[in-house]
Amino acid sequence: MCGIVGAISQRDVGKLLLEGLKRLEYRGYDSAGISMINHQGQLCRLRTQGRVAKLLESFEKNPIAGTLGISHTRWATHGIPHERNAHPHQSGDDIAVVHNGIVENFETLRDQLFQSGYIFHSETDTETIAHLMHCEFQKTDDFLKAAKNVAGQLKGAFALGIINVKDPDRLIAVRCGSPLVVGIGIEENFLASDPIALVGVTQQFIFLEDGDIADVKRDKITIYDKHGKEITRDIHISELTYDSASLGEYRHFMLKEIFEQPEALRTTLGCSLNENDVSPDAFGVESKACLEKTSHVTIVACGTSHHAAMIARYWIEELAHIPCQVEIASEFRYRHVIVQPNTLFVTISQSGETADTLAALRLAKEMDYLGALTICNVPASSLVRESDFAFITRAGVEVGVASTKAFTTQLLGLLLLAVTLARSTIDKKQRAKLIQLLRELPDEIDEVLKLSERIRELADLFANKQHALFLGRGLQYPVALEGALKLKEISYIHAEGYPAGELKHGPLALVDKNMPVIAVAPSNDLLEKLKSNLQEVRARGGQLIVFADTQSGIKNGDDIITIEMPKVDNLIAPIVYTVPLQLLSYYVALIKGTDVDHPRNLAKSVTVE
Ligand code: G6P
Repeated sequence: MCGIVGAISQRDVGKLLLEGLKRLEYRGYDSAGISMINHQGQLCRLRTQGRVAKLLESFEKNPIAGTLGISHTRWATHGIPHERNAHPHQSGDDIAVVHNGIVENFETLRDQLFQSGYIFHSETDTETIAHLMHCEFQKTDDFLKAAKNVAGQLKGAFALGIINVKDPDRLIAVRCGSPLVVGIGIEENFLASDPIALVGVTQQFIFLEDGDIADVKRDKITIYDKHGKEITRDIHISELTYDSASLGEYRHFMLKEIFEQPEALRTTLGCSLNENDVSPDAFGVESKACLEKTSHVTIVACGTSHHAAMIARYWIEELAHIPCQVEIASEFRYRHVIVQPNTLFVTISQSGETADTLAALRLAKEMDYLGALTICNVPASSLVRESDFAFITRAGVEVGVASTKAFTTQLLGLLLLAVTLARSTIDKKQRAKLIQLLRELPDEIDEVLKLSERIRELADLFANKQHALFLGRGLQYPVALEGALKLKEISYIHAEGYPAGELKHGPLALVDKNMPVIAVAPSNDLLEKLKSNLQEVRARGGQLIVFADTQSGIKNGDDIITIEMPKVDNLIAPIVYTVPLQLLSYYVALIKGTDVDHPRNLAKSVTVE
C-alpha cells in the first residue's frame, strides 16, 4: 500500500531508486514518482500516472543525476490517480516528501497552513506534510528537529522519507504504524517499505519501530525512539533473493504462483514435520507450553487470510475439540472483546504488515490472551516480530496481488496447528496417519494442476457474465467464499460465496440462465445435502459447474458441467479444491483482459486502515 525507496550515496542513485520501485509495485501501482537533489544542488522531480514502467520511460528521456533521492509508487487514498497527486510532494523548491499511510488530521493542518499562505496543488494528505516540514524548518533551521516536530503533529499511521536541499547530506525517515526499513551499505545507506526493494543493494537491514525517526547519512545512521532518545536497533541479515520474482516461462505471476503450490507445500512441510508428527519447533521453540495450555482459540485476519481462518475453525474444533472463534481484523479491533481463559490469539497474514491485523494483535497483547501466534509468509514482517510465536509459511515471494500459494501454505500451517492442539483427542496412530495424508498433499495438488486446460475451456462460459455464485458446505463453504473473492478480485465479475444450505434464503432469487453457479462438491457427509441444493439451482435454469470426485455420482449433463477431481480425504479437501477455483479465476480474467497481477484499485500489502 504505497512503496517508498530512498538512497544517500556517493554514486548516482536514480536507477537504484527506480529498480526498487519496480519491486514494490505490489504495494500500489496507480502512479509513481522520484525526487532527487542533483549535482547542482537543485531538487528535481519526475512523476507519472500509471505503472512504474511509465516513470522509467520518462526518466530515460529526462534523466536526473544525483546522489540523494526518494521515490514512490502509489495506491491512492486521498485524491484520484493523477500526476498532480503522485508522490513525492514538495513544498517550494526545497523539501520533498514520500509517504505511505494516512494522516487523519490532515484537514485541520491543511487549513492552518493555508491560512499561513501555503498553496496546495494536490488533493493528498501528503502535501500537508511537505508544507508542515517547510514551516517547521523555517522556525527551527534544523532539518531533524523540524521532522521531529512534524511527526509529533501528525495523527494516523504513516511512514515518511524526506529530503531537503538546504541540508543535502541527510535523508530523514519516520515510522509510525506503516512499515519502513533502513538498508545499510558501505558509504551509502537506504530506505524502503520492504527489504525486497533493496535486494542486490544490501542484505543488512534495520527494521524501524513505531515512533522511530532515522537520520540517515552516507556514513552514519542515527535512530531516535518515540521519546526522542537515541537508540540502537538490531541489524538483521536478509537472505532474500529476487530470483523467485521473475516470470520465467509464465505469462503472469499468478499462474506461476498457482503452479508453485506443490513445491511451496513441500517446503513448508519439510520445515514443520519430523518423522511421524509435527515438529515441536514448528510454531517457535517456546510455543510448546502455550499450545499445551490452550483451551480456546481466536483467529483474526483479513481477506484471503480470513478465509483460511474460517477453514481452520472446522479443523481445530473437529480434531482438537477446542472452541475456535474467527473474526475479521477490522471488526475485532472495534468490538468489546471478552477473552475466555487460556485463549490462544492467532493472526494470519501473507504480508505480515496488514494494518488492521497488526492493530488487532497490538490490542490483543494488552488483553488476557495466553499468547500470540502468527501464521505468516514474511519472517521479518511486523506481525512476526511483534507476535510471541510464529509459523512461517514457506511459499516464497508472492508477487500476484491475488493470494494463491500463500493461502494454501497458510492452510497447511493451520492444519498442523489443529493436529498439534489435538494432543489428547487423537492418538499416536491417528496422528501418524494424518501426517502421511499431509505428505501426500503436494502430489494431489500436482494432479489437480493437470486439469488446467480443461478449466481454461470452461472459462469461456464467463466471457459475458456479470455475476457468479459459489456454493459449498461445511469445510468447503470458506473455499466457496475464497473462489468468489478470487473471481471478483481479478476478473471484476461480481461473485458471491454462499453456504449451499442458505441458497433458498435469498440468493436463489438471482438464479437464472445468466448466473453461473459453481459448487465444490467432494464426496463427504454433506454431499447428499449439497446435491439437493444443486437441484434447486437446476430447477430454476441455472448453469451449474461442479468440482467433484467420481464417488460423488454427479454426472455431466445439459445444465451441469462436472470437473472430475481426485478423491481425497475430507480434511485436506479444502486445500485441494481451492486450486481449481484459482485456475478458473485466472482464465476468466485472461478472457476479460484484466491486469491479472495488478487488479484495479487493489494492493498486495494493505498498510492503511
Ligand atoms: C490484500 C490482498 C489480499 C490479502 C489481504 C490480507 O487485500 O490483496 O490478497 O488477502 O490484503 O492480507 P494479508 O497480507 O494480511 O494476508
